[in-house]
Amino acid sequence: MAVSKIHLGASVGLLAFSGHLVLAQPPAIPPEMQLAALPVSVVDPADNPSTPEKVALGRWLFFDPVLSATEKVACSTCHHPRYGWADGRGTPIGVGGRGIGPQRLPSKAAGIEPLTRNTPGLLNVGFNGLVNGKKYDPDEAPMFWDARETGLEAQLFHPIRSRAEMRGDDCEESQAVAAMVDRVRQITGYRERFAKVFPAPGNEPITAATIAASIAAFERSLTGGDSPFDRFMRGDSDAMTVQQQRGMRTFEKAGCLHCHGGPMFSDFKLHVIGVPGLGRDDRRALRTPTLRNLGLTAPYLHRGQARSLEDVLNFYEQLMDIVSETLDGGDASMDPPLDPLLKHLHLEVEDFPGVLAFLDALNDESYDTSLPESVPSGLSVSGE
Ligand code: HEC
Ligand code: HEC
Repeated sequence: MAVSKIHLGASVGLLAFSGHLVLAQPPAIPPEMQLAALPVSVVDPADNPSTPEKVALGRWLFFDPVLSATEKVACSTCHHPRYGWADGRGTPIGVGGRGIGPQRLPSKAAGIEPLTRNTPGLLNVGFNGLVNGKKYDPDEAPMFWDARETGLEAQLFHPIRSRAEMRGDDCEESQAVAAMVDRVRQITGYRERFAKVFPAPGNEPITAATIAASIAAFERSLTGGDSPFDRFMRGDSDAMTVQQQRGMRTFEKAGCLHCHGGPMFSDFKLHVIGVPGLGRDDRRALRTPTLRNLGLTAPYLHRGQARSLEDVLNFYEQLMDIVSETLDGGDASMDPPLDPLLKHLHLEVEDFPGVLAFLDALNDESYDTSLPESVPSGLSVSGE
C-alpha cells in the first residue's frame, strides 16, 4: 500500500492513501499549550510583595523622566498607556527625541544609532513565562525579544544603562544606575514616599533595589485579563461572537497553538521563524510574543515590519511554501534552519477573517489608561 506525501497549492500537506485523500493528523497540542483564561492575579516574587503604596510609588517612577540621565525620557515615553503600554511605532526613539507615539521626532543632532527592536506592550507582563500546569516563578520570567534577561526587577536596569534608550551621553554606562539613584534621592517627594514604603531605620531607603522593586510592582499591576476570550473561557458562552468562536477553532487547526498557546498565547520559548527584517535579528531565534491585546500595539513583529495583523497572517501563509521547500526538502541553505514546529502550519487566505476575529477577542478594552497628573521631580510626565 503506497503512502506518499503530496502538496496541494504547496500549502496543505495531504496523504494520498489507497486512492483516498485524508488530512494528515496534526500532532496533539501539549497540555501546557491548551487554551486557557488568564488567572485573576499575578504572582509576586517572595522578596517583593506588592502593596498599593508600592505600586503608586512605582507608577511615579515609571512616568518620571528623572530616571534618564538626560531627564527627558521616562519608561512611559516608550511604554505609554495610550498605545497599549507600547509606543505605536515600528521601532522606538529614546534620547534626543521629541513627542510621544507615532509622532515622536528623532533628534538630528543626537548622533545615536537608532534602536532596532519593536517596543513590546507591558499589559500582562507580570504573567511572562506563565504556561498551564507549571509552577510560576516571577524571578525566571523571560524578558525581551531574545529572552536575554529574566525577572522584571532585573529588566529595568537595561534601558537605564542603554545609550539610545535613556542614558545618552550625559554619563558613563557603568555610572548610569548609581547616578539615577542619586537623582531620585535629591527629590523630597520620593524621600518621603520611599521611607514609608521601605522603612529601614538608620539605612537609606532609596537604593537601586528599592527603585527596581517599586517599578516591578507597578508593572505587575498592568493586567488585562478581562477580554471576551477570558470571559468565554470562564463560562460566559455569549462573550465571544459566533465568528470569534469559529475563528478560535481555525486558530487551533492552523497550528498556531504549538507556539502561541496557554493563558498568555506564548510558550515563551525561542524559535527561528525567519521573519525578514533589515538587520541582525533576521533568522535569529526570538521569543514567541503574546497575542493578547494586539489591537492596541500595532505595528507588529520584532522590528515592527508588519503594519497590520493581516500582514502578519500573509507572512505565515507565504512561510508555509518556504517551510515545505526547506524543512521537508532538506535544503541546507537555511541557516539556522526554520523551527520544525512550523511544519504544522495550515493557514489559508480563507481562514484570515476568522483568525482576525478571534485575535480581536483577546483585547481587554477595560485596561487602565490613566496618567499621573504630575511626578515628584516636577519634570513633565513621560517627558512630553
Ligand atoms: C526608548 C524606548 C524605551 C524606553 C525608554 C524603555 N523601554 Fe522598555 N522596551 C523597549 C524596547 C524596544 C524593548 C524590547 C527590547 C528588546 O527586546 O531587546 C523593551 C522591553 C521592555 C520590557 C520587556 C517586555 C517583554 O515582554 O519582554 C519591559 C518589562 C520594559 N521594557 C520595561 C521598561 C521600563 C521599566 C523602562 C524604564 C526604566 C523602560 N522599559 C524604558 C523600549 C523602551
Ligand atoms: C514555531 C512557533 C510559532 C508558530 C507555529 C506561530 N508563531 Fe506567531 N510568532 C512566533 C514568533 C517567534 C514570533 C516573533 C517573530 C518576529 O517578530 O520575528 C511570532 C509573531 C507573531 C505575531 C506578531 C505579534 C507581535 O506582537 O508583534 C502574530 C500576530 C503571530 N505570531 C500570530 C501567529 C498565528 C496566527 C499563527 C498560526 C497561523 C502563528 N503565529 C504561528 C512563533 C510562532
